[in-house]
Amino acid sequence: MSSTATVNTATSLPQEVARRRTFAIISHPDAGKTTLTEKLLMYGGAIRSAGTVKGKKSNQFATSDWMEVEKQRGISVASSVMQFEHEGCVINLLDTPGHQDFSEDTYRVLTAVDAALMVIDAAKGVEAQTIKLLEVCRLRKTPVITFINKMDREVRDPLELIDEIEDILKLDCAPVTWPVGMGKQFAGVYDLHRHQMLKFTPGDNTADSEVEVLDGEDHPYLVEHFPIAHATFKEEVEIVREAASPFDHQAFLAGDLSPVFFGSAINNFGVRDILQALVSWAPSPRPREARQREVLPDEADFTGIVFKIQANMNPLHRDRIAFLRICSGEYRQGLRATHLRSGKSIKLDHAITFMAQERSHLSEAYAGDIIGIPNHGRLRIGDVITQGETLKLEGIPHFSPEIFRVARLNDPLRAKQLNKALQELGEEGTIQVFEPLEKTGMVLGAVGQLQFETVAHRLLTEYKIDASFDSVPVHKALWVSSADAAAMKRFLQSNASRLARDAAGALAFMAPNRSVLQLTIEKWPEIEFHSTREVG
Ligand code: G4P
Repeated sequence: MSSTATVNTATSLPQEVARRRTFAIISHPDAGKTTLTEKLLMYGGAIRSAGTVKGKKSNQFATSDWMEVEKQRGISVASSVMQFEHEGCVINLLDTPGHQDFSEDTYRVLTAVDAALMVIDAAKGVEAQTIKLLEVCRLRKTPVITFINKMDREVRDPLELIDEIEDILKLDCAPVTWPVGMGKQFAGVYDLHRHQMLKFTPGDNTADSEVEVLDGEDHPYLVEHFPIAHATFKEEVEIVREAASPFDHQAFLAGDLSPVFFGSAINNFGVRDILQALVSWAPSPRPREARQREVLPDEADFTGIVFKIQANMNPLHRDRIAFLRICSGEYRQGLRATHLRSGKSIKLDHAITFMAQERSHLSEAYAGDIIGIPNHGRLRIGDVITQGETLKLEGIPHFSPEIFRVARLNDPLRAKQLNKALQELGEEGTIQVFEPLEKTGMVLGAVGQLQFETVAHRLLTEYKIDASFDSVPVHKALWVSSADAAAMKRFLQSNASRLARDAAGALAFMAPNRSVLQLTIEKWPEIEFHSTREVG
């Protein structure tokens, strides 16, 4: 801990911080994230009935419609952060965009949370997007709680699912509940810690508090009504007790071990167990590393970092909302702070909080909370706001893009404007832009297709530029650095046609294919190739 950190003792800041839990749900599309979000919000009293959370239906719109919907109703802003209370804890649930809206935002959101809830479809197991998202969690050692969903269906063998999570995701699993049967024979889950069985009753809005509890593994009800499921369960549970890791809180906090729950989100079954785990086991806001020192959440002085920009609320005014994670201290309306990138003073007024579908102005928020700051483009991803101290916080990486395009102008006279617009969108983090050293035209890189559609839409509405996107022979862009200046100079000379600078001026190697990349890495041992670059 640094000597410059002053811990606030005059107010209830430490208590406010201690009762915060900030997490995101990660899953492959269709695993049940939206359904589970709704059930969690119902528990928190933030919504009254299911079917009211964003997203799900709006996913069915074409992209341009989706943008319109977003603009008109602010849906995606409203559902980006959902705050509710449960058992004395203030829970911030951050939405990670799924499926077709998968983008860098998804990754960045994960840098703003202290824990993640991973939802696995029990019929499908570990899927592609889960793997990607978990990699990001691992980078930051984020603790992960696992929920294996859809046990009311015919699904895969639960032991096999646990093996798969351990093998593919390299995450130790500590089952906390274990299913008895599945599909039509799904009797419920057995709580391995409390030694009691929670009886499953199908039904959309069953309050979990009314779930019937049966004591012991061999309750006559089970033996009588579910003889086959019960026998299988007994065998499985014996294996689990022998082979699976026991729950270890420290290993969980270190991101090495995940408590696993089984259930059925749509039937509101198992949801309360997850909330319980969040409240009891998930960490309160964690300290943040800055280059200068560690920033503690209960320091009196405010520190925040922008991890997401939501633009397009009103394209004519270029107004946008910067999502800022409070890393230390508290926000009060009218707080005077310093915007470190520009060195200028900034008054934090009109910050927005998010309550399910409504957004409202708030007068106070604490470390762990997310606030939205309306601005006109002044705030960018990675920007840090403090009360004067210079702090270079770690944590908002750019990820090496996976899809590359070049913009083609439908009106060639707007070339200059296009470059300027792309540069701005690159700085904002909407898309990554790479300007080849040989000035052969900006290359755009994204991790999700939707990023290109967003750029096309914003170019048209905000900059009046009509552009489309063509593919480009780039397989991978990796940032390069070297401690050996002479080697770097030689590398630059030999590879000029494959090098580009990103929006922040960082140098990247644009590999046309896997073998060129491999050969280049082998040929230039003095050069380091990076798949992430930190913003700021
Ligand atoms: P996502 O946000 O992760 O993409 O998933 P979402 O919650 O939208 O759920 C995907 C589908 O899985 C939905 O069905 C949803 O009803 C279903 N589902 C979620 N949890 C469970 C569960 O516990 N059991 C079963 N059997 N199904 C579940 P859909 O047909 O795509 O949509 P809808 O017509 O039900 O709205």
